[in-house]
Amino acid sequence: MRDGFDPMLENSVSTRRNVGLDSALDDARARLVAAHPDSLARHRQAASVLPGGNTRAVLHYDPFPLTFTGGSGCRVTTLDGIELVDLVSEYSAGLYGHSDPVIAAALQAAVDRGIVLGAPNTVEASYAAALVDRFPGFERVRFCNSGTEANVMAISTARAVTGRGTIIAMAEGYHGGVLTFAHGGSPLNLPFDFAFATCNDIDGTRALIRERAGDLAAVILEPMMGGGGCIPADPGFLAMIREETRAAGALMILDEVMTSRLDFRGLHGAHGITPDLLTMGKYLGGGASFGVFGGRAEVMDRFDPSQPGAFSHGGTFNNNVLSMSAGYAGFTRVLTEPALTAMNATGDALREGIAAALDRHGLAACVTGRGSLMNIHFVPGPVSTPAPLDAADPRHLALLHAELLLAGFYIAPRGMIALSLPFGAAEAADFLSALDAILAVHARHLPRRH
Ligand SMILES: Cc1ncc(COP(=O)(O)O)c(C=O)c1O
Repeated sequence: MRDGFDPMLENSVSTRRNVGLDSALDDARARLVAAHPDSLARHRQAASVLPGGNTRAVLHYDPFPLTFTGGSGCRVTTLDGIELVDLVSEYSAGLYGHSDPVIAAALQAAVDRGIVLGAPNTVEASYAAALVDRFPGFERVRFCNSGTEANVMAISTARAVTGRGTIIAMAEGYHGGVLTFAHGGSPLNLPFDFAFATCNDIDGTRALIRERAGDLAAVILEPMMGGGGCIPADPGFLAMIREETRAAGALMILDEVMTSRLDFRGLHGAHGITPDLLTMGKYLGGGASFGVFGGRAEVMDRFDPSQPGAFSHGGTFNNNVLSMSAGYAGFTRVLTEPALTAMNATGDALREGIAAALDRHGLAACVTGRGSLMNIHFVPGPVSTPAPLDAADPRHLALLHAELLLAGFYIAPRGMIALSLPFGAAEAADFLSALDAILAVHARHLPRRH
């Protein structure tokens, strides 16, 4: 902690007079440490049995991640008893908030009826029918346990049905823990033969698809890069991939694990693009673990176990009654079209408010995204491919993240914001005034527009 600094006396952003970005960041982190002694103690204890106290990479940030004890609506409570407005929303999986009564009742009813049944249950086919009915890209679906698993299954399916090996993905894309393409990729990635294109580079991507056409099994991409920085794919880019994959005899896989919430019919539905295979997850489990992959009947029917030579797809918990019940109740009874539209409209308004604040304070910064998913970047906009984001200094987002936590708002350390249904206009207004106050104090520590 900085010498002579007493966080108990000085924990409000308005009293800070920092010189230099590093000392501003140290100062904010010192106030966070001082305000969260119980979280720090829990983190230290966890580190003796979990590597770095962590079991999910994205949840780590410096100086240590705050522990939450519970949540209600769009608010969470830390172990030190501090309430935060939640703008992470479990990286988009928390769309229903933390305490939706319809989902709670569905979970309770499932528990009352009996769990781990080990047979087809009465919910899975109804849920499958609801998904097929709403999303044009699904003619048949299969459930699994995570978005990662859904993408692994989609890629493996594409390789099996085409008899080819190459997968084209987007540089800096994210499709799960073993399909991580940010910053040159992960050593833990699956050993598929990947080739990389650049999101929204129509000519380069078309040329790559044609060059690899002979062995191309699939192109996988998100209709808006989520983990890659909330960068929407242009409709023309998606249409080109649809056309070129078809011409190459390869499959188009759209990963809508994050983005399916951006339109009632999914982002592929909004753009009128029907992929061969489509993956989803996150909020569709109603808060329980969940993944789903599906697509054209002709492809998916290869999984029909009554047919000779069928693909075998296992998974103990694929149809577990907790995920099926919570997911089905949320999807059919809570996520109505007006509710989804209102949440995305709140997001559009919030993004405009953030952009205006960044502009008002003269910052070389921008906010990307669509509807209820967005990302603040400390690089000048507009950003339509991931490359410009390399120029960002991570200390800028770290400072904003720490100051927002101190002000009672939880955003992702990488600047991402995902809204939930209970997040309303009042929370948006409070967030924008907190942001304004932070930017007023710290504008000199952040990149300036010239
Ligand atoms: C686009 C995308 N695909 C796949 C995944 C992986 O989903 P899961 O964490 O459920 O494995 C994520 C998770 O953030 C994601 O954003």
